[in-house]
Amino acid sequence: MAEPPKSSFVVVANRLPVDRSPQPSGTEWRTSPGGLVTALEPVLRQQEGVWIGWLGTSLDNAEPFEADGLSLVPLKLSADEVERYYEGMSNATLWPLYHDVVAKPAFHREWWEAYVVVNRRFAEAAAASAEQGAVVWVQDYQLQLVPAMLRELRPDVRIGFFLHIPFPPAELFRQMPWRDKILEGLLGADLVGFQRPGGAANFSRLVRDRLGHKTHRDQIILADGRRVATRAYPISIDFSGLESLAKSDAVERRRSEIRAELGNPRYVLLGVDRLDYTKGIRQRLRAFGELIIDGRVSVEDTVFVQVASPSRERVDQYKEVREDIEQWVGRINGDLGRIGRPAIHYMHSSFPRDEMAALFRAADIMVVTPFSDGMNLVAKEYVTCRYEDTGALVLSEFTGSADALKQAFLVNPHDINGLKDSLWAAMQADPRDLTRRMRAMRRQVRTNNIATWAESFLTDLGGARLAAAAS
Ligand code: F6P
Repeated sequence: MAEPPKSSFVVVANRLPVDRSPQPSGTEWRTSPGGLVTALEPVLRQQEGVWIGWLGTSLDNAEPFEADGLSLVPLKLSADEVERYYEGMSNATLWPLYHDVVAKPAFHREWWEAYVVVNRRFAEAAAASAEQGAVVWVQDYQLQLVPAMLRELRPDVRIGFFLHIPFPPAELFRQMPWRDKILEGLLGADLVGFQRPGGAANFSRLVRDRLGHKTHRDQIILADGRRVATRAYPISIDFSGLESLAKSDAVERRRSEIRAELGNPRYVLLGVDRLDYTKGIRQRLRAFGELIIDGRVSVEDTVFVQVASPSRERVDQYKEVREDIEQWVGRINGDLGRIGRPAIHYMHSSFPRDEMAALFRAADIMVVTPFSDGMNLVAKEYVTCRYEDTGALVLSEFTGSADALKQAFLVNPHDINGLKDSLWAAMQADPRDLTRRMRAMRRQVRTNNIATWAESFLTDLGGARLAAAAS
């Protein structure tokens, strides 16, 4: 492999911000799915750093490369590692466990062994790309062992870790056979960031109770003579970049086209998610279907658009949720649709940013109903695109976004009647009330954007390290 690029700022994440998709015509690069990339790409661009990650395929051994001005270091995973580290330990153990066991986590020793091996590979790659005294920012649940592994290899670097998904209460975390190893892995960082204050408190309590470390106000942990800081940093998006895109003529044209293609209905409701069982997609579709059955909503003037982007398709629980959702869409459309008037327009695909912005512009009501979600950036993207202060957001109270977007129509997605009432309330709301709510939510996202998020984390990371050096 060619000499890796070096930088004073290194991001380490499971995936690179682009996925390689081999086509008969040659390689095609696509933006990777999920909120992590949406949030971090502008940060890396600003810091001119190096991003280390997996290319999303087990096919070949790629060399470091530049894509769209970003310096990228691809790591290879074997087919076996994809199965055990990524699909297994990351997405069939940690993902369900950290999301309130919405699905049952599976515990397999061989998955854990692969997780350790792959985390070490990421730590070694970070050690090779970090300049003396660099800042290395490790991302998310797939890489929780990297901080301690990297500290051993490179005690000179400042290490930050940020968890993009919820961090569970001790009662759930304790189920994991390798619980203490994960805590020790995270404690290799100088600063461990979470989406919500509850995550930081859960972590603090666990390291105190399980590892016997002293903690101060759930913010400082004294671990073997080192100080580790921990706090919530609610992640956000590039408000001004997305708002400018939403205001562009091309997006405006596409917005009208979409509405026309949908038959110019009175109401367009929209859901946009990775196709994941944590997102509560079935519940929102059921609630919508029942509103039609009850006669409160008519397919003549209302349509639900659901974009479900393909995700983790080889993991059993993801195959099951896809079948389940598609059966519900079929049933609701079969029972309630009319010729040229399906109740639900369902798309199992992902779209580029401009198409998403046009969809957000076209939607009167955005429906975001996860059972558990670290943040949910789709909710913030929607309000960002509503620059005329119109539109309504129906938002699950179990998302990190609900902490900030308090003027949304907040719902408990387990409560189908409550969900129906909130959808109905959003449809019936006085436009002046919607404007007041939207204005407040937009102010929130404008002020707490991705730049302020990165800045507060990186400032504290510098401070945490300095504090450790001083003590
Ligand atoms: O935000 C959670 C997360 O798992 C990120 O780590 C990831 O980039 C994104 O969702 C998409 O998931 P995946 O990489 O498994 O497709």
